[in-house]
Formats: sequence, C-alpha cells, structure tokens
Amino acid sequence: MAEHPAYPVGLRLTGRRVVVLGGGQVAQRRLPALIAAGADIHLVSPEATPSVEAMADTGEITWTRRPYAEGDLAEAWYALIATGDQEANSRASAEAERHRVWCVRSDDADRATAWTPATGHSEGVTIAVLTTDAKGRDPRHTAAIRDAVVEGLRDGTLVAPHHRTRTPGVALVGGGPGDPDLITVRGRRLLAEADVVVADRLGPRDLLAELPPHVEVIDAAKIPYGRYMAQEAINNALIEHARQGRSVVRLKGGDPYVFGRGMEELQALAEAGIPCTVVPGISSSISVPGAAGIPVTHRGVAHEFTVVSGHVAPDDERSLVDWPSLAKLTGTLVILMGVDKIGKIAETLVAHGKPADTPVALVQEGTTAAQRRVDATLATVADTVRTEDVRPPAVIIIGDVVNVGPHPSK
Ligand SMILES: C[S@@+](CC[C@H](N)C(=O)[O-])C[C@H]1O[C@@H](n2cnc3c(N)ncnc32)[C@H](O)[C@@H]1O
Repeated sequence: MAEHPAYPVGLRLTGRRVVVLGGGQVAQRRLPALIAAGADIHLVSPEATPSVEAMADTGEITWTRRPYAEGDLAEAWYALIATGDQEANSRASAEAERHRVWCVRSDDADRATAWTPATGHSEGVTIAVLTTDAKGRDPRHTAAIRDAVVEGLRDGTLVAPHHRTRTPGVALVGGGPGDPDLITVRGRRLLAEADVVVADRLGPRDLLAELPPHVEVIDAAKIPYGRYMAQEAINNALIEHARQGRSVVRLKGGDPYVFGRGMEELQALAEAGIPCTVVPGISSSISVPGAAGIPVTHRGVAHEFTVVSGHVAPDDERSLVDWPSLAKLTGTLVILMGVDKIGKIAETLVAHGKPADTPVALVQEGTTAAQRRVDATLATVADTVRTEDVRPPAVIIIGDVVNVGPHPSK
C-alpha cells in the first residue's frame, strides 16, 4: 500500500457520519477541522480531554462513553482511529477495511487507509501537504512546508495573484502603529495585491519599500488639492484610480475608524459606487502604551480606559470632549494628537479634580526603532514636553497604570 503515493482528495463531509475512536490529544487536534467541515461526528471513548468534552457539551459532536465495539464503524463515511489501545485500533481498522470506510490511524500510518495532511488556510484556499510514502513520513517537514506556503501567501512574500476573486475597488487598510509586523495578515495580503497604494505619514511605512516596482505609491499628504479640502482630494484620488480598474489600497495608521476618517472615505466611495473593503488595524491607542510597558487596564488599578482626541484645546469651542467629566473618571485616559495641547489639557483635568500628581507617560513613535517614553505627572507634563522636546506622533497615557509595569529606563 505504501509503495504508491497517496491520492490527494478533499472530502466533503457535511452531514456525513464520521466516527472518532478515542477522545485524547489526537482527537482534540483533529476535531475542530471535522467540525468546520460540517461532519456528523460520533465520538466513541470512555474518556475525553476537557476540550473534547466541551465540544460534546455544546453539541458539536455526539459522545458515546464506552470503548470501541465491533459495529461502531458500520455506517461511517470516514473514521479517525486514535484510542490508546493498539489492539482496539487494529480491530477497528480491520472493521473499517471490511466496511470500506477510509480511516486514519494515529498509531500506525502504514496500516491506515488514509492520511491526514498538514493543512493551512489562506483566504479561500486550503493548502494540504502530504508525504509521498509512509516510509518517508516526516510530519515536521510537511508542517514546515505548509507553514512556509501559508505564511508566504499571508505576508505577500509568495504572490499568487487572484484571477477571479481579486478584491476590486478600494481596501481601507489599518496598518497598525508603525512596526511593519503589526499589520494584519489580510492587510498585508491586500497590500501585496495592490496596483496603487495611497499611504499616510503614520503607519507601517517600511512595508512600502517592499512593494514591487510596478506599484504606484502615493503619499496622501502630497496629493494636490487645489479647490478641494485635503480629505476630498484623497477621496477623489481613490475614486479615480479605482475607476481605472486598479486595485487600490488606502493604507492608514492604526485602525481606519479610530480618528482615521475611514468612514468619510468609505462614504465617498459608496457614493461613487466603488466597492470598498475595510480591514481593521491595531490602534496606537492600545498598542503604543503596551509597547512602552503600559497596560491600559490592570486588575485592581483601572477598570476602564477612555481614548480621547486632544487635537483641540479644552476651551476651544470646537471641542466635543467633556473634560470635566473625564477628570472624575478613575480609569486610564489615553490621548491621541495631544502633544501640542497637553498643557491646557492637564490644567483642565486638575482644575476639575484630578490629582496633580497623577502619573503621565508620553510615548513617541511607538513600536518603531525611534520609540521613546517620557514620564511626568499632570503637574509637570507641560514643562516636561518642552524640556524633553516631545513631538508628535505620541500617545499620552494618564493614570496609575503608567506605574504598574517595570519602567523601561530603570
Ligand atoms: C490621526 S490619529 C490616527 C490614529 C490611528 N487611526 C490609530 O488607530 O492609531 C494620529 C495620532 O495617533 C497617534 N499615533 C499613531 N501612531 C503612533 C505611534 N506609532 N506612536 C505614537 N503615537 C501614534 C498619535 O497620537 C497621532 O497624533
């Protein structure tokens, strides 16, 4: 049996009876994919791991609590034989053979009639890797090949262009805070497929250098906007390029919907009838404090965190922020775009009751090679920003969470 290569095939198991013998680690690893395939799964086993038991409790599988008995495989389309008892496994695989049920065996691949490939998924495609024969079986090697292919497709180093399902129109991609590793897998893939990338100053700029030469990279800050507002000019550029049938990625810092004007762009595209996908990103409001060793919540210290824009001062009539109420909160305040106005902000918070010695940290260019953290209190932060020359982009964190972790400079 093992002299010929296995014949690869995809089993469509929806609603079909699959019997699993043994509820241990092997079953625990294999069951999720069988459940995802919609199989009608019957587990026969006196015991099961807590995770397998949970699958039975939620009705994802049916569990009969006893050892394997002759006849269990009679109605099955497919069987997974993985009990700890080799003799029972042999009897079960003999029964599978008699009933012509394809079966995998955890203890003896040579005696199995089917092998489980190392599998992975990447946007609508399943990658399955099998060794050619049982003697040469090296599960780590097949898993490594699977990982290399899946990883390559995800991060765009392996490019397999879509011919039928290429994402049309514009993708608003949240690029994360700056470290190129902190973009989502989907964002990275869309970037690898783009014809045009319209990028902001913030976000993973390093990724732009990796794009192939035919990709047009447009700096959003440099789009000429004549009689338009800058945002309108960006919207128009997205629409124009998409209308030319090009795949456009609008690469934004952090998450598109956190002070990112993502919805304005989506609305403009919708009005122009251009399909638009939105890919969430890791917002700087959580990740930048984290990168500097500051958790935005901590048990017993902060049960809430509030993310606020500090781009207009508290006494500015355009401000929509209720600073007096924020001064009364006991949790963490995270302020974006607040470096210029932090003096006024700190003054207002103290005037409305926040203790002047409340800790403050400013994290500049978080997650990049230039990351810098500067600590102060509400009383000293205005001076500290001046003397330390803190510049945007920076995230400002106000609250006791600033001091819970080991300070990076100590
Ligand atoms: C227009 S907002 C965009 C926020 C973004 N959409 C997000 O979710 O992170 C820009 C502000 O985000 C913050 N910011 C973004 N990236 C940052 C980084 N790497 N380090 C520090 N602050 C950052 C700064 O406060 C900056 O002024």
